[in-house]
Amino acid sequence: MHDITLTLNGAAVTARVAPGTTLVALIRDQLALTGTHIGCDTAQCGACMVHVDGVPVKSCAMLAVQADGRRIGTIEGMAEDGRMSALQAAFREHHALQCGFCTPGMVMSAAGIIDRHGANVDDATIRRALEGNICRCTGYHNIVKAIRSAAAATA
Ligand code: FES
Ligand code: FES
Repeated sequence: MHDITLTLNGAAVTARVAPGTTLVALIRDQLALTGTHIGCDTAQCGACMVHVDGVPVKSCAMLAVQADGRRIGTIEGMAEDGRMSALQAAFREHHALQCGFCTPGMVMSAAGIIDRHGANVDDATIRRALEGNICRCTGYHNIVKAIRSAAAATA
């Protein structure tokens, strides 16, 4: 077992983890933040996307011990002062979800896309950058619209 310390959504957290524990298992099973979902568990669907030191990472493809000393952000940390962030509000406004299972991962990826590409990101760039996130409801059109609108609002 390994003792690790990380910052989770701004708060210091310590945990004892087995060497093979994935980061998503730590987040969901040990730290009880279940907004991060497991779809494929094989790094294909993006439902488990979190931020590691501000960068979107699939948490099923990272070991918990690798999070030692890092800054981890999950969907639970996206709200600002108890209100949805502008990005989350854009997803709601544009109905960028159907069943919602993929949505936390989409939002975490979307934040990274806006970070990397800024206010003028175009649809083709958004679609390419979302390649690692699978929505089984095929709701990409509104997801792209929501991300474009949230990006424009940052200008
Ligand atoms: S659960 Fe991690 S990519 Fe699908
Ligand atoms: S909204 Fe259902 S999987 Fe994306």
